[in-house]
Amino acid sequence: MTRNPDLVSWHPASWQSKPALQQPEYPDKQALDTVVASLSRLPPLVVSWEIEALKEQIAAAQRGERFVLQGGDCAESFEDCHSDQIAKKLKILLQMSLVLLYGLKKPVVRIGRMAGQYAKPRSADTETRAGVTLPSYRGDIVNGPGFTPEDRAPDPQRLLRGYERSALTLNFVRALVDGGFADLHHPEYWDLDFMRHSPLKEAYEKIVHSISDALDFFEAASGSPIHEANRVAFYSSHEGLHLHYEQAQTRYIERRQRWYNLSTHLPWIGMRTAALDGAHVEYFRGIANPIGVKVGPAMSAEWVQGLIATLNPQNEPGRMVLIHRMGVKEIEKRLPPLIQAVRATGSPVLWMCDPMHGNTETASSGLKTRRFENIVAELEAAFRIHQEMGSWLGGVHFELTGDDVTECTGGARGLTDADLARAYRSQVDPRLNYEQALELAMRIAGLPTPRR
Ligand code: PEP
Ligand code: CO
Repeated sequence: MTRNPDLVSWHPASWQSKPALQQPEYPDKQALDTVVASLSRLPPLVVSWEIEALKEQIAAAQRGERFVLQGGDCAESFEDCHSDQIAKKLKILLQMSLVLLYGLKKPVVRIGRMAGQYAKPRSADTETRAGVTLPSYRGDIVNGPGFTPEDRAPDPQRLLRGYERSALTLNFVRALVDGGFADLHHPEYWDLDFMRHSPLKEAYEKIVHSISDALDFFEAASGSPIHEANRVAFYSSHEGLHLHYEQAQTRYIERRQRWYNLSTHLPWIGMRTAALDGAHVEYFRGIANPIGVKVGPAMSAEWVQGLIATLNPQNEPGRMVLIHRMGVKEIEKRLPPLIQAVRATGSPVLWMCDPMHGNTETASSGLKTRRFENIVAELEAAFRIHQEMGSWLGGVHFELTGDDVTECTGGARGLTDADLARAYRSQVDPRLNYEQALELAMRIAGLPTPRR
């Protein structure tokens, strides 16, 4: 790889000379510097060859040869870093990927919003309750969710705790995947307890049996196991929001002559921090990872073209993932001009649809929710629009959990606003529960789902 002339002025801290939105105000700057220095010395969480392998897979998805499933919590919490939660999230993602593989007949790239999804953008810097004003909760890597001055004070030590939890999570996921948990011959490992009572049980089991039969058939016919299909790769991703954290994990790989963010495989730029002249775009342009950018309804054609020119000046395949999140009301109007604008650049991108973030509303109880029917409708519109325009929608991005929460309404069980309080656990955005997530995968795969 030749040195990129666009990057002569770039270094991992060059973002600091640009306006950085959504960053916490640390009262003790010295303490922050000390933490960033220790983070910079700790070993990386991922390595460059995994990142390059993902980039190749994303390049294949850009060509229509693969489909990407990205999902996980809106925000991971330090408290939920335990085996049961992690295994359940991995299970639902593996189940969904199996359904997508079966329906779409394409290899599925699995990417968790996991092992580092700890920093959140907020619409206001402070929150006021009963006359008391405190800093907003910005995710566990910054402060705590409790409404007390102690919890809400940004604490740089949390950056180290976040790095450690990410490492613990990734270590467990890697052990499960390498140990055979993700083996396509044993999809029964991925069953979740409440599956037994689910209206989707039969449809899902049919898929599992049909895949097992197909594997058996080909292995019998060829006389050897299908190794390629045995193990599945699993990648991590998070919003690259907290720039001191991302900077600390950015390393120069001599052999490749490029800088990599080694805290995750696929960092993404959130919608609120995608300004062309902002600190986030400055940071991201210098790292060699594949990167995501959230594309919201306010984004103009020129803005998206500017992002591509700045973030992928060499038109490298597998580099750019555009995750549109328009909302069901806006997608028809907003998406087509952007598809056209991106095509005009001639630069390869992977289009993905996030049907969650444009469809958030507040229920009468005051809880944030999303309606399953709106999520499905946005997805359907997205697939149709891309197809009509001769474009390829190569992936989906969901907020989901392996738990039986009640945060989004609708789905096969017909959750209503009145059900929300029963098991609402998210500190931030409402997630699909296990059943809703599986049902969505079935819809995308074009499979029948139970009607109520
Ligand atoms: C998110 O993915 O949790 C998020 C904040 O998304 P967006 O930047 O699209 O609003
Ligand atoms: Co969210």
